[in-house]
Amino acid sequence: MKVDVLTLFPAMFVGPLDESIIKRARETQRLDLRIHNLRDYAHDRHKTVDDRPFGGGPGMLLKPEPIFEAVEHLGRPESRVILVSPSGRTFNQAIARELTQLEHLLLISGHYEGFDDRIREQLADDELSVGDYVLTNGALPVMVIIDAVTRLLPGVLGDDESAHEESFSQGLLEYPQYTRPADFRGMKVPEVLLSGNHAEIARWRAEQAHLRTRERRPDLL
Ligand SMILES: C[S@@+](CC[C@H](N)C(=O)[O-])C[C@H]1O[C@@H](n2cnc3c(N)ncnc32)[C@H](O)[C@@H]1O
Repeated sequence: MKVDVLTLFPAMFVGPLDESIIKRARETQRLDLRIHNLRDYAHDRHKTVDDRPFGGGPGMLLKPEPIFEAVEHLGRPESRVILVSPSGRTFNQAIARELTQLEHLLLISGHYEGFDDRIREQLADDELSVGDYVLTNGALPVMVIIDAVTRLLPGVLGDDESAHEESFSQGLLEYPQYTRPADFRGMKVPEVLLSGNHAEIARWRAEQAHLRTRERRPDLL
């Protein structure tokens, strides 16, 4: 998958996407990630990307010209252009899975008070939020989306890191898991997991996943 990111803060992307599974996905060309500085598409002396809102009000808005030019330059017919914004649909595992089907994502990170609305209306195919809170800029939401999508791309997770039985994969939270020692300070691992009876273990896990989901996230059921 090819992913282009448009941001005012390219340096924020150095580090989080250079470790572990995402690093490996990039090295094996499963993820072709490029970070672009929005200011490169501003042509005045000061590289201006923002301006005051018409009608007054606090803060500054990202101007349409640099973002339109960047999308015209980086976009292709098959691209999905996604703005990250608190007003978007809330990102979740189903949307992450949906995005894995696409060849090219162009993710646009906001700053200040957000975007001139013509960018949303005319340029964006989609608008995603990472939750009901406001961050200072869109770099973290963009990285969250890239991470969640990349780990679902074919071949990115090894068998040990399989995405099949984790939280949300079957619409449920994950069942409780344990490792050695079987008895730690008197806290014992459930007997069934030590039984070697795979059918019993699978039944117990399914039951626990339902119980946990009903207790903590009944909205998922
Ligand atoms: C300070 S926020 C702007 C908030 C905007 N004035 C509002 O009330 O919705 C600056 C930028 O950070 C990003 N951002 C902040 N919180 C976000 C969230 N929960 N999900 C996705 N993007 C977010 C967006 O790109 C946004 O344009």
